[in-house]
Amino acid sequence: MSKNNDRRDFLLKLGTGAGVVALCAQGAASLRSLVPNVTYDAPTTVKLGAPKDFPDGLKFLPDERLFVFREGNTFHAISAVCTHLGCTVRAEALANPQTADVGGASMRLSHRFLCPCHGSEYKGDGSNVAGPAPKPLAWFRLSLSPDDGQLVVDLADEVGHDFRLTLG
Ligand code: FES
Repeated sequence: MSKNNDRRDFLLKLGTGAGVVALCAQGAASLRSLVPNVTYDAPTTVKLGAPKDFPDGLKFLPDERLFVFREGNTFHAISAVCTHLGCTVRAEALANPQTADVGGASMRLSHRFLCPCHGSEYKGDGSNVAGPAPKPLAWFRLSLSPDDGQLVVDLADEVGHDFRLTLG
């Protein structure tokens, strides 16, 4: 075989090799596209900041669609997601805050919640009282992060109205 033929043969093999590699890469990409781009173990816990950054009363966290309430050293969190069709409810301060029994302990209720979409209303403890909302706003578990002491909410852990996080 001549030198020229060797060279042509080599280039042909090189080209074929590159083609095979490209096809494999494309095949892998196509296969990957068949796998949904979601993870089923996405974290549901979110750090919310240091407790000292939460004023007494209510703080709305738009990213988490969450209201965090503080009464002294005691915290609880109520979802801002309307239980009708999922609009974000807004909090309206009560002219006369009340103290009520919530989950077996007294709690200061300073707000009510109104849904702008179809007019549902909720009391300060999240109970639905008017409109199409079929159930109360969810309460979520709060805890303290062991690493940096931030408040943490678990948006997959719904708790009862007796839940309180009290810091020592
Ligand atoms: S989504 Fe809130 S009342 Fe319909």
